[in-house]
Amino acid sequence: MTVNVKDIYLNYFKENGHVIIPSAPLIPENDPTCLFNSTGIQPLVPYLLGEKHPQGKRLCDVQKCFRLTDIDEVGDSTHHTFFEMLGNWSLGDYFKKESIKYSFDLLTKHFNIPLERLAVTVFKGNDFVDKDCDSANYWMEMGIDKDRIAYLDSDSNWWPNMTNIGPAGPDTEIFYFRSDDEIPQKFNPEDDRWVEIWNNVFMEYYHDEDGYTKLEQKNIDTGMGVERITAILEGVNDNYLSSIWIDLIKLIEDYTNLSYEDNKKNIRIVADHMKAAIMLASEGLYPSNTDQGYILRRIIRRLVRISKHINLDINKQFITDFTNIIQNKYVKYYNELENSEKIINIIFDEVIKFSKTLEKGLKEFNKICNILESQGIDKINGKTVFRLYDTYGFPPEMTEEEARNIGFDIDMEGFSKFFKEHQEKSKAGSKEKFKGGLADNSIENVKYHTATHLLHQALKDVLGDDVNQKGSNINSQRLRFDFSFGRKLTDDEKKKVENIVNEKIKEGLDVNVCEMSLDEAKKSGAIGLFTNKYGDIVKVYSIGNYSKEICGGPHVKNTSELGTFKIIKEEAVSSGVRRIKATLS
Ligand code: ALA
Repeated sequence: MTVNVKDIYLNYFKENGHVIIPSAPLIPENDPTCLFNSTGIQPLVPYLLGEKHPQGKRLCDVQKCFRLTDIDEVGDSTHHTFFEMLGNWSLGDYFKKESIKYSFDLLTKHFNIPLERLAVTVFKGNDFVDKDCDSANYWMEMGIDKDRIAYLDSDSNWWPNMTNIGPAGPDTEIFYFRSDDEIPQKFNPEDDRWVEIWNNVFMEYYHDEDGYTKLEQKNIDTGMGVERITAILEGVNDNYLSSIWIDLIKLIEDYTNLSYEDNKKNIRIVADHMKAAIMLASEGLYPSNTDQGYILRRIIRRLVRISKHINLDINKQFITDFTNIIQNKYVKYYNELENSEKIINIIFDEVIKFSKTLEKGLKEFNKICNILESQGIDKINGKTVFRLYDTYGFPPEMTEEEARNIGFDIDMEGFSKFFKEHQEKSKAGSKEKFKGGLADNSIENVKYHTATHLLHQALKDVLGDDVNQKGSNINSQRLRFDFSFGRKLTDDEKKKVENIVNEKIKEGLDVNVCEMSLDEAKKSGAIGLFTNKYGDIVKVYSIGNYSKEICGGPHVKNTSELGTFKIIKEEAVSSGVRRIKATLS
């Protein structure tokens, strides 16, 4: 049985006055504070705070999400790096009562889930927010028995959590009894036969260093994972057996002549990583050694390594067949999948590069073994095994296998020690980058956002109109801006750019926003990426008469708020792309 959850969901909310907006890209362009979108609300944060959304106050979408944090879990029946999240939003429009009614209606009347399989949790209150009796009452009005309502604290029913800076609020979560056992009358959220299927967050607070305050408007933010609900509605206990994955699994079975039943873990990882790589590449991302590009590289390399366990050659034909299946399934929602040739080439080129790296690793391995042999040693120490892995991408199992062939031993324990140390280091580093949660719209970040627009225009003025944004990242201490340009900037050019930005700050230019169609925006000379990701109506931010850019906001009201702009670094990112880091003080 195939259930198209996405269409049922989107049509339902459309019929109930919501505008279907396109998914924002996986790689956020207007939220440069994190590497990937990992939840539906992420691209909409500014609108929770009062910015007007060009499509109105009731929205819904299916959002592409990518979570690197789950990569080690991939291989079980439920985790994925790339997944999709359905969501509906009220931006200062309806609140708890309607939200609960919509959720209940959709689940019981359109997804046809029997009432007896449903249960909910609501927030039990803390020292500044009351117990959420309103939500509990609305659920009971819908027909949910009081035994099926559990009251939980902020560890479970507060989103994203109590510490994140930004909008937040209590939530009510909906659970489904996923088992053939007799359904207990009383709901126990600790019993893992009850699985969460939908989260409705009542976003009415803002959290910063001084604590919680009420937002000017009450918002609704909901999220439902497409992969899980599809498996449930199709009656399978393994996400990979649902209609979302089954064709891909079959393709891998065909190529390897192995059965999924006997090779679940490796086949799941290959399927997951192929899909994630295709989705990332469809956004024009290339494997590289930094940021998102590095993640794509890691995904593809891991894919190649794991595929060896099932004797699968990631050749061009396999990539093409896999991409075609993905394209058929998803292009209707994500039109960036149209250019399959480009996607296939991006992945294939990296596979080839990795094979060459492995070859180099093998040469290095042979060199090391010759030296050891001449010294009468027949064991490769852990540090060397780690270096082969770290520098040459040569996995320890491969080193072990090669070593065995020539009668050598390897020190796996020593390797594990180095590996652990390295992992801890990179975890500490990536915690910062992948902290997920919501964008930080603190005033410092907003200032950097406006400074980024001034910098973009100033670069065009000094270096020419061909300069275009290639990436942007902001934290509360600095901005980072990547742009297309073929060489190092001279000191004189850097000074000129800096001076222009500071002049514009001194001029005290007003920042204004206008809504218009994408065509009008183009005609008006606005810069920015002309994709359809914002929907047909876009927001254009003007800074005096100086800069005009398509952007979701938010920005400061006047450039005089920015302070002094200083370029602290200018460097190459990859061929044809330069990077500037700058501060405001
Ligand atoms: N933003 C909420 C979540 O991701 C709905 O669970």
